[in-house]
Amino acid sequence: MPKSDIFQKSGFKFRIPPHLTDYAEVYKNFSWQQAASEITFFPDGKLNAAYNAVDRHLKGVNKEKLALIWEGSDGAKETYTFAQLASLSNQVANLLKTKGVQKGDRVFLFLPRIPLLYVSFLGILKIGSVAGLLFSAFQEQALFDRLKDSGSKVLITNRELSKRLEKVRQNLPDLKEVLIVDDDNFKKELESQSDQVEIEKTDPDDNAFMLYTSGTTGKPKGVVHHHYAILSQHITAKYVLDIHDEDIYWCTADPGWVTGIAYTILGSWSNAVTSVIYEGRFDPEKWYQILADYKVSVWYTAPTAIRMLMAKGDDILKKYDLSALRHILSVGEPLNPEAIRWSVNVLGLPFHDTWWQTETGCICIANYPVMDIKFGSMGKPFPGIEAAIVNDEGKVLPVNTEGNIALKPGWPSMMRTIWQNEEKYKSYFIGNWYLTGDHGLVDEDGYFWFIGRADDVIKTSGERVGPFEVESALVEHPAVIEAGVIGKPDTLRGEIIKAFVVLEKEYFEKCRDENAAAGLKEELSVYVKKHLAGHAYPREIEFIDKLPKTRSGKIMRRILKAKEMGLPVGDTSTLEEY
Ligand code: WT7
Repeated sequence: MPKSDIFQKSGFKFRIPPHLTDYAEVYKNFSWQQAASEITFFPDGKLNAAYNAVDRHLKGVNKEKLALIWEGSDGAKETYTFAQLASLSNQVANLLKTKGVQKGDRVFLFLPRIPLLYVSFLGILKIGSVAGLLFSAFQEQALFDRLKDSGSKVLITNRELSKRLEKVRQNLPDLKEVLIVDDDNFKKELESQSDQVEIEKTDPDDNAFMLYTSGTTGKPKGVVHHHYAILSQHITAKYVLDIHDEDIYWCTADPGWVTGIAYTILGSWSNAVTSVIYEGRFDPEKWYQILADYKVSVWYTAPTAIRMLMAKGDDILKKYDLSALRHILSVGEPLNPEAIRWSVNVLGLPFHDTWWQTETGCICIANYPVMDIKFGSMGKPFPGIEAAIVNDEGKVLPVNTEGNIALKPGWPSMMRTIWQNEEKYKSYFIGNWYLTGDHGLVDEDGYFWFIGRADDVIKTSGERVGPFEVESALVEHPAVIEAGVIGKPDTLRGEIIKAFVVLEKEYFEKCRDENAAAGLKEELSVYVKKHLAGHAYPREIEFIDKLPKTRSGKIMRRILKAKEMGLPVGDTSTLEEY
């Protein structure tokens, strides 16, 4: 590897000495038991993740510290101290109790990034109920699948988003209450609640929150995390994000994504850091303005956003004073070396790539402030986490050999089950290893490199999309007989969703006309956007005569992908028709 592709840290002037001073040393001596002293336990080893994130700070100097600096899409600004977050979340907790919510009940959140989303999440955990998170881009099908599978008892949403529930609500018998946060009634009820609550002293392995995520087959799966996950989230936020008392920290992720939970609500607040939350959508100038206005010093974002900032050009950047930034990180998809070169050029700081998953609950492989960065590598495993490259039988492979990225289970935030699908949960493991579904390799210095997914999961703008969900949405349309969906490489978004569609005869005939075909493609894209989710629709559609399938009728997406990319299609012996 050429030397220019390494960012050396030896001469780097840290503005604040990093928490993790010697990676190798800490990795060698790390124990979760020792790390647990950073977390506050109740007697008998009980704990509560929300208490650790917020309420424990009320006993010390951070009580009146700013926890949240919020800016709305419309420019509104609000701030909250840790004491205020605690009181408000207590009121939500009490309100939920009046609605009959009990320990273990699922309460789902379907809201934009407004303060009440964060406060409600904390309130749900405080009474031992289980928070479920839904992206506000979700439409009725995505909503229905998740609320149905989880048996959610309460949904907290707003007036506008609640409309998407209307058609499917009668098929959700477990859903007893829909709380609309912008209704006067709700506001009155909330205000009338006491701001004190008895926080549930949960066991470390009691459920705290769940997130649905996509695999290759079937509907999305409910990944369940426990209260004890807070330990991993706290210590990774400290050592990887390197947040210090004086930092202003901005994680751009939505809590519909695990990053927005682990590193906006739990691990970051448990370190008592001041967080910025911006409700609005991505916009280059707005983002630079937020970084400048709030003097953000630690910034955790994602490659697609970085690439979009790069594409916007460096001229607009000159208008903003970003000199407060001192540590910048990225997650969710491969971080191109080009993006690191760019940040070094324009910000004087390298982006630090981090790798993890909804299932792992915390950052597992990372570039640490003190460690040299090899451009394009995800870095090294977090202390207390063993990572390796294994073959399909779970045998560890030698260095520089491509295989499955695998982790040894045992860190606190590892998912503990897939909601009502123990079989799926078990399928993640082989021998002693948890298989991540990613391919990669580890080099002679112990740096991990991402190569690609081992399965058909699509990563578009960092969002994980299961092809099956999109295919199912497409076949609901009367024109479609069947559909095969793949991720097509895209320089900006990592991948875009591409659908291969087999049409009903009458539509097929009509679409001999080019304009009619273009019109139907647009209609199908919009159809998926409206029924499934705003981000999970095909940006490209191709009509084809038939889909490549196995003898058992499974769509061979890998063949669609190989053809799309002009690559050899590989072994087709199991194909029925091709
Ligand atoms: C998948 C997990 C937890 C963060 C949000 C994503 C891909 C994640 C990287 C990275 C290359 C990455 C992997 C992984 N991924 N980080 N640094 N480099 N790929 O969580 O939605 O559960 O997706 O995102 O494929 O398995 P997620």
